[in-house]
Amino acid sequence: MNLLDLIGNTPLIDLSFLGPDPKHIQLYAKAEWMNPGGSLKDRPVKFMLTDAIKNQLLTPNKVILDSSSGNAGISYGMIGAALGYQVTIVIPGNASEERKQRLRAHGANLIETDPLEGYDQALRHVRELYSNSPEKYFFCDQYSNQQNIRSHYEGTAVELIRQTPSPITHFVCGVGTGGSLTGIAKRLREHDPTVKIIGVQPERWPGIEGLKPLGEDEDIIPENFDPKVVDEWREVSADEAKTYCSHMAGKGYFVGQSSGAYLAVCNRLMTEIKQGVVTTLLCDLGERYFSVGLWR
Ligand SMILES: Cc1ncc(COP(=O)(O)O)c(C=O)c1O
Repeated sequence: MNLLDLIGNTPLIDLSFLGPDPKHIQLYAKAEWMNPGGSLKDRPVKFMLTDAIKNQLLTPNKVILDSSSGNAGISYGMIGAALGYQVTIVIPGNASEERKQRLRAHGANLIETDPLEGYDQALRHVRELYSNSPEKYFFCDQYSNQQNIRSHYEGTAVELIRQTPSPITHFVCGVGTGGSLTGIAKRLREHDPTVKIIGVQPERWPGIEGLKPLGEDEDIIPENFDPKVVDEWREVSADEAKTYCSHMAGKGYFVGQSSGAYLAVCNRLMTEIKQGVVTTLLCDLGERYFSVGLWR
């Protein structure tokens, strides 16, 4: 086994106790925090980098470049270090200190952008950096790289279908790059066209780390996100997400803010249906959010 072999095949956790009627309404969640980088982003980064090496787009003289709110950055730093590549990550200045420290620990070079301008500024900046020196970098571009979707279509979704003990009726997920929602939803639909895909829309400010607000004209819609996969959108506030993180911590599960947001939506849904099997992802570790005040 090596580091890359530790990615994926995460356990499925039965969280039906969170809903009103565990006998008729079940909730199952993939424990994505158990990936070695502590989040779901290990999956796409592994697929994107190994594909780029195979196709000689990433060669030993090139630096791996991308923008990230932190989790994908950690995956790039970790896998880049394991494979012997230099890594440069453009990150919004408000990404949590825990993320930045882990990235530096793996030897990655960080470029921070203005926190007030959010993710989209990191995206603009990374594109500018690449267009100024295309010979220096392998620009991985998780927002448009098809391997991102593929990692979830061939990995997360297939595991989810195999591990869930009865047919899945709902899948709840938000959008960062759109890779997980698009990849998993497509696979679930092919398996069963009646499955309902519920999109999680985060409150714009203060926002939910990892999730992108969509819907305003100025929002960049990631190329890897196919809005047609979503049947219904549900909004979640940062406070609601935090409430669910604390609730889960009280049950022994220590997960981050986007997981709290997904569970808040799952729970609302479970009070509305009479019967069903709801599924979601627990995207990353709770440890990543001490400095941003999630646990205060
Ligand atoms: C904590 C967290 N949750 C959810 C997501 C969304 O995942 P995706 O990029 O597949 O849309 C991300 C992505 O960066 C994330 O870091």
